[in-house]
Amino acid sequence: MNFQDVVKTRRSVRGYLPKMIPQETLTRILTLANLAPSNCNIQPWYVYVASGQSLQTLKAAYLKAAKNSQPNPDYPSPRPFPEPYRQRQIDCAIELYKEMGIARGDKAARDAATLRNFEFFDAPHVLFIGMDAKFGASVALDVGMYAQTLMLALTSEGLASCAQGALRQYPDIVRDFFGLGDNINILMGLSFGYEDTTVAANRTRISREDIAGSVVFRE
Ligand SMILES: Cc1cc2nc3c(=O)[nH]c(=O)nc-3n(C[C@H](O)[C@H](O)[C@H](O)COP(=O)(O)O)c2cc1C
Repeated sequence: MNFQDVVKTRRSVRGYLPKMIPQETLTRILTLANLAPSNCNIQPWYVYVASGQSLQTLKAAYLKAAKNSQPNPDYPSPRPFPEPYRQRQIDCAIELYKEMGIARGDKAARDAATLRNFEFFDAPHVLFIGMDAKFGASVALDVGMYAQTLMLALTSEGLASCAQGALRQYPDIVRDFFGLGDNINILMGLSFGYEDTTVAANRTRISREDIAGSVVFRE
């Protein structure tokens, strides 16, 4: 795939086949993603990958927490989003729920759709990306670049992924499972694997604003 195809093909996939990615492919992809740039080349990302029984254990812990505990994120999301971001968030949810056949007022179905995050959308692999707790927004920028490079690397190998801020909500689960200290904060999760093209949610296509809304040219 050329670069344009990789960027255009990547999208958030929320349903996977029960097929493991070979370890050598995983290592190749993570080695490619590791070429992401960072300020002063500090390479601040830490990546914790779970598959098989480890993934099942984490899934059970996440589902239990999501049903019984208040979220306790290291980095709370700004909610509600102010305008115009809130409208974009709503439009994105409408698009996804339309494909999933969820009616606007169907709270039970919406809650079930949210819980799919904690089932990792049935992906055979999930990973969590963290950084040193001493860092803030400037270094999180580096980690974001890593995350996109990783998602594009997955796409270039014919694989799919979904970035998940939802998995940031219970960072202690990740720290406990991987034996991390409080010095590591969790920024996001990423479910990934082979797309199940029969899953309705995967028909979703999310558009973007015109660049006139975000780019300023001055000559
Ligand atoms: C940092 C980040 C966190 C996200 N968190 C979630 C999430 O928790 N659950 C989810 O279903 N999608 C999540 N997404 C996916 C976005 O909804 C998606 O990227 C956006 O709607 C654009 O759609 P596309 O990725 O298909 O192009 C996240 C994306 C990013 C970049």
